[in-house]
Amino acid sequence: MNNLAERFEEDGGARAKQEFLQDVFEGLSASPKTLPCKYFYDEQGSNLFEQICELDEYYITRTELALLSDIGNEIAERVGEGVTIIEPGSGAGQKVQILLDALLHPRKFIPLEISLDALEASTQELEKKFPRLEVIPHQGDFTDKKDLKKLPLVEEDTEQRLVFFPGSTIGNFSPHEATEVLSNLRLLAGENGLVLVGVDMLKNRDRLLAAYDDSLGVTAEFNKNLLVRINRELSADFDIEEGFDHRAVFNEEASRIEMHLVANKDQQVAIRDEVFEFKQDESIHTENSHKYSQQMFVDMALEAGLKNVRNWTDAQADFALFLLRPA
Ligand code: AVJ
Repeated sequence: MNNLAERFEEDGGARAKQEFLQDVFEGLSASPKTLPCKYFYDEQGSNLFEQICELDEYYITRTELALLSDIGNEIAERVGEGVTIIEPGSGAGQKVQILLDALLHPRKFIPLEISLDALEASTQELEKKFPRLEVIPHQGDFTDKKDLKKLPLVEEDTEQRLVFFPGSTIGNFSPHEATEVLSNLRLLAGENGLVLVGVDMLKNRDRLLAAYDDSLGVTAEFNKNLLVRINRELSADFDIEEGFDHRAVFNEEASRIEMHLVANKDQQVAIRDEVFEFKQDESIHTENSHKYSQQMFVDMALEAGLKNVRNWTDAQADFALFLLRPA
C-alpha cells in the first residue's frame, strides 16, 4: 500500500483547491445562496462529524452499526463467498469491518475516498485486521464519473462484487441526483453484483430536528466549520463568531432536513478578489438530508435500474439497509 500519496497526489492538491474555490464562488453567487456539503469533511469537520455520531440525538450512526451487526449473517448468505467489496466514500472504514467480519472469505476491498489520510489509515488498519483480504485503495470523488471509471475492477465473471454505500450518504442528494448516484453504483456492481445502501427513514419531525440541532451545539459547529475552512483555505473573511447562525429546518414537501447558515446582520464577505453581499436573515443552504419511506426508496432505486432483494430495519424502523441488484 506504500506511496499512496505519490500515486495519487501529484498536482491533485492544487486542482482540488481550484475546484473548491470555483464551487464556493458558484454557490455564493446563486440565489438562494448554497455551498456543497461535501466540503464539510476537512480534518476538523471529520472530527466534528465523529462527535455528532456520539450525540444522544443523532441516532443514525449507532443504529446503522447495530443493524449491520444484527443482519451480517443474512447479508453473507445472499452475497456468498470470495466477494470483492467496493465502497465509494469509505472514510475511516469502520462500517465495512462489520461486513468483513460477517462475510465468507471476502477477497478484495476497494475503498474510494477523497481524503488521502483517511484512505491511508483505513488501509493500514484493514490490512492488519484482515490479513487475507487484498485492500486496493483508490483516491477519488465518487460523485465524479471519471474517478469511478479508474477503479481497478476485473472482469465480472471472475469476481462477485458487492458495492457498499452506507451512512445515509445517499440522503445528501436530491432524488434526481440520488437516482444518478444509484445508477453509478449499479454500473460498479455489474450485471451479477449486489448493492447495499444505508438509508435514514422518514420519522417524527421533532426527532429529526433534534438530530440536526443538538443541545450541545456540535452540529452548529460542524455547519460553521465550513466557513472556517473557506476562511483558511481560500483566504476569506467570514465573521464566524458574530455573523452567522446555524439553522436546521424540516422541509416536509421535499421530505428532507435542511441545514442553513443564516446571516444575523447585513454584511460583506471577501473571498480572494470577490466580495459577496449578505442581507440580514439571508441564508446559505449548506446541506440536504433526505428521509425516505421504504416505498419511496424502492421506487427510486427501480428508476436507477436496481431491484430490491431484501431490506432490513431496526426495531423502531429508524434506519434501513437495502440490498439491491440490477433489475
Ligand atoms: C453523513 C450525510 C449521513 O446527513 O445525517 C450530520 C451528515 N449533517 N449532521 C447526515 C450530517 C449534519 C450526515 N451524513
